[in-house]
Amino acid sequence: MTAGGEARQQVVLPDADALVQEAAQRFVALARNAVSTRGMFRVALSGGSTPRPLYELLAAAPYRDQIDWSRMQVFFSDERFVPPDSPESNFHMAYDALLSKVPIPERFVHPVATVDISPQESADLYEEGLRRVFEVGLTEAPRFDLILLGMGPDGHTASLFPDTEALSVRDRLVAANFVPKFDSWRITFTYPLLDAAHTVIFLVRGADKADRVREVVEGTATLPAAGVRVPEGELIWLLDAEAAARLPEGKAGPDTESRQSGDRT
Ligand code: 6PG
Repeated sequence: MTAGGEARQQVVLPDADALVQEAAQRFVALARNAVSTRGMFRVALSGGSTPRPLYELLAAAPYRDQIDWSRMQVFFSDERFVPPDSPESNFHMAYDALLSKVPIPERFVHPVATVDISPQESADLYEEGLRRVFEVGLTEAPRFDLILLGMGPDGHTASLFPDTEALSVRDRLVAANFVPKFDSWRITFTYPLLDAAHTVIFLVRGADKADRVREVVEGTATLPAAGVRVPEGELIWLLDAEAAARLPEGKAGPDTESRQSGDRT
């Protein structure tokens, strides 16, 4: 719709099932394209509740069999600073829903270190790991083939929450971010890393996000999620009808597509 910052392309799906089907099809297409053009698919998974059904879809036929899991490197766009076996852990959710069910080599799954380490050391370690896997130096941001993101009702994305320090970090790829509303630390991708991606897909479901979605699409938002611009890549918002409900009728944006159930890309 408009240049950088707002939702450049939004696709409205009739319901949550159609939303994750659309996301799964796009995930497979991006994975196949990355493997055929770059030999590897490097993806960052999001946490929260919205992506879980997507991960469960990808772990089962037909999508499971359409992906070359041996050519996939998995990172996490953010992590709660809890042990990996905690029900709060984004790694734990993705492992349970997907990574434990597909033949992805263990060395290609990169959880954030959260045990016997400080938040800052964890962020530094994660950034070092990213640079090593992507084989980039200190002056270049790794370009993920896909970064999956969600958005909270307050407009946060990854663990970039309103009024927190990590929003202003421009010289690091990964930050330790203290989130007062949870009185806890998070490890999060920063805008330079998010914006370097080839493709960022926001997966947003539910009426409680509708106001924020409208602000982002209309370009009036100063929300963390609106700060993701991906100037050299694709920025796609996949919305269910509830999350898109406050978009001005028919004026969601010239790039808005609305899909009815049964439509396929
Ligand atoms: C997290 C996520 C977070 C999430 C939003 C939306 O660690 O919680 O990375 O950024 O995407 O909070 O969460 P829901 O999908 O549960 O609404």
